Amino acid sequence: MNEVYHKLKTCLESIRQKTDFVPETALILGSGLGDYADGIQVEQTIDYTDIEGFPVSTVTGHKGRFVFGYVKDVPVVIMQGRVHFYEGYPMTDVVLPTRLMGMMGAKKLILTNAAGGVNFDYKPGDFMLITDHITTGIPSPLIGANLDELGVRFPDMSEVYSRRMRDIIKTEAQKLGISLQEGVYVQLTGPAYETPAEIRMCRSWGGDAVGMSTACEAMAARHMGMEVCGISCITNLAAGMSKVQLDHKEVQETADRVAGQFKELVTAVIAGI
Ligand code: HPA
Repeated sequence: MNEVYHKLKTCLESIRQKTDFVPETALILGSGLGDYADGIQVEQTIDYTDIEGFPVSTVTGHKGRFVFGYVKDVPVVIMQGRVHFYEGYPMTDVVLPTRLMGMMGAKKLILTNAAGGVNFDYKPGDFMLITDHITTGIPSPLIGANLDELGVRFPDMSEVYSRRMRDIIKTEAQKLGISLQEGVYVQLTGPAYETPAEIRMCRSWGGDAVGMSTACEAMAARHMGMEVCGISCITNLAAGMSKVQLDHKEVQETADRVAGQFKELVTAVIAGI
């Protein structure tokens, strides 16, 4: 059996020894949303360290566990803490948890993240509905022998972020009085923040926000046929766009400041989609 698929099966079996919970929707929490899972009706949690073969995150502020439970009666699995490419894992490990959630039964995926604003119309604290992405700056998570069990060799990526879900998210945001930007997310590897020249490149590519996660997970999920949506919290203007230097503290502070609204929106989205 293919090594990557074998690892997925080992992790899935390890999870299935602990729970038979079947989620409908999977949610990946970005910076600032880390404690969202504490506010839901929790059925069970599984620490990543207790799953055989699972890549464990090293970033501070990211708890590493799956939380199983219900949000407004919808069975969900939540990734509290994601795996980033800059931590040194191969891309197939970075997307392993996403694929696992799909293999547990989740048909829909909600991605969240903190991102730098590339579009001059954005300001820190804005939310951006992801309409599309650019992964040119990272290796594809689908490189290597195709996992035929999950999807086809050359998957279509013409609508990674479901139009159906996007329409619902816009309606839910409007109902909550939360304004939403819409734009293209560019994933780069990090961990350094970008240079001003790289941000100009992102803008000329057609990017509106930049970050170090999400698009690879969206690709892996689409490959296996999950329906995907994503929302970024714009925590700062990207490099060269303001006088302040970038640091993780500012990113965290903005994410924390708007976390309440972000959580409200996510709850409405889970119930609505
Ligand atoms: N660049 C990359 N990733 C980020 C940023 C940024 O400016 N802000 C939050 N995550």
